[in-house]
Amino acid sequence: MVVKVLFVCLGNICRSPAAEAIFLHKLEEKGLLDKFEVDSAGTGDWHVGRKADSRMRKAASLRGIDIASIARQISLDDFNSFDLILAMDNSNLSDITSLSKQLNSSFKAKIQPLLLYLRNSNILEVPDPYYGGEKGFDSVLDLLEQAIEGLINDINND
Ligand code: 4NP
Repeated sequence: MVVKVLFVCLGNICRSPAAEAIFLHKLEEKGLLDKFEVDSAGTGDWHVGRKADSRMRKAASLRGIDIASIARQISLDDFNSFDLILAMDNSNLSDITSLSKQLNSSFKAKIQPLLLYLRNSNILEVPDPYYGGEKGFDSVLDLLEQAIEGLINDINND
């Protein structure tokens, strides 16, 4: 069975495209690419059609990770086409939950904060690096790498 995972942030140009690329990179390393489908989206539409932020692409490429996705906005269809919708912060989580109410709460996806999968930590939000300095992108990548390792282990051991 293929598990479909959607990572969601605000703009879909920093955190969620990085999460998508890290997820794909780790799946490839582990030989699990055929077990998953992955995508990312933003709750907002300001950056639709654009590549990920160049600062995030640079920070990821220094780790050997290529961020190739093009920004799109989350849609109502996503709630039935994905198994898991993973939000980067509480504001994303609340926007996604509000949107889901248009479906009268009847849909397939489980909506969770991504950092639920971060082991040995009580941090539940991936900070928004957009208005910060270069260092912010690297610490976001550290958090994402650890949480996604936990996510893959969790799904794979189910
Ligand atoms: P993201 O970061 O949600 O991680 O993609 C942001 C990107 C753009 C904006 C805010 C956050 N913005 O305000 O345009």
